[in-house]
Amino acid sequence: MAVLQSFFPSSIVHCSLCVAPGILQRNRPLKEELEKIREECEATLSLAKTEPEVSEIRVRVMGRKGSLTQLLKQLGALPEVERKEIGRKANEVKESLEARIEEVLLQIQERERKESLAKERIDVTLPGRRVATGTRHPLTQTLDEIIHIFSRLGFEVVEGPDVELDYYNFEALNIPKGHPAREMQATFFISEDVVLRTHTSPVQVRTMEKKKPPVRVICPGAVYRCDSDPTHSPMFHQVEGLLVDRGVTFSDLKGVLTVFVHQMFGKETKLRFRPSFFPFTEPSAEIDIECFICGGKGCGVCSGTGWLEILGSGMVDPAVYRFVNYDPEEVTGFAFGMGIERIAMLKYGINDIRLFFTNDLRFLKQF
Ligand code: PHE
Repeated sequence: MAVLQSFFPSSIVHCSLCVAPGILQRNRPLKEELEKIREECEATLSLAKTEPEVSEIRVRVMGRKGSLTQLLKQLGALPEVERKEIGRKANEVKESLEARIEEVLLQIQERERKESLAKERIDVTLPGRRVATGTRHPLTQTLDEIIHIFSRLGFEVVEGPDVELDYYNFEALNIPKGHPAREMQATFFISEDVVLRTHTSPVQVRTMEKKKPPVRVICPGAVYRCDSDPTHSPMFHQVEGLLVDRGVTFSDLKGVLTVFVHQMFGKETKLRFRPSFFPFTEPSAEIDIECFICGGKGCGVCSGTGWLEILGSGMVDPAVYRFVNYDPEEVTGFAFGMGIERIAMLKYGINDIRLFFTNDLRFLKQF
């Protein structure tokens, strides 16, 4: 020991007889300090679970204000021999800690990779999920059927605007301002002259303005009336029909609409033409079909009459032709209009019109 001591006066062995006890006194805490730093750092590293935790430890030890960095700064004050020795030691600690940090980082990365792989694992043996396919809305189906029937009879589909001039919705249909028929259609007014159309009949007028006879059109679309209960909706749909040519008679109206009813509701369906009134047709008739709930005996659905009203119709009033410059002496024609919701409700036995617009899949999927 004595020999060793004389060779390495300032290190390893601590002895009060040494040449420079003051230095030794300083060295020892520095060396111990180094070991303490290493131990603490290793201990905290072994607990670290994430990369940020590891970098935090690295900064705490080797950052600008880190414990090891601070300690290294003190080296300058030591005599050369010791400076070298402690310096070497410090480098060794630094290198070993850096290696340890790398190692821990790799372990963390490896563990995280494994965890994420496990989490993203796909079981290819699981049965596939069915893609939910939509169905056509019952109103679309009903309208398509109506269009199909009339297109085979030579009718063409045309459309008009939902926001309509009072002129087309009323005036040109022989419903002047103050006419009591205006009261029947609870109108949404946009301004004094602009309304949400209350029926599809304005498309008749727009069509005749653009086209000379022969005219054979159906006009489907949304219509609006200020009305809401199980059988009335503020927005609903109608299909208008118009046929104008030379020599068209009421028999043609009856023929076409009878074909329609039989194709829509079945060949056995009984129907009747009941006299009615519309300002833009003369004579006018509403068509009823025999109540298929009670077979004509009278029940709640048909209000005890045995009949269900399905559409309005009539021979176009000559007054309307004057608005579109058709000559009533030369041409005649008929028009009809029906509510698509009403037809669908009767056809499918639906008792509340609001079901069409609430988008309940349990309802919609039945069609
Ligand atoms: N437009 C009328 C209504 O909404 C229906 C109708 C159309 C009647 C065409 C006769 C001719 O009540």
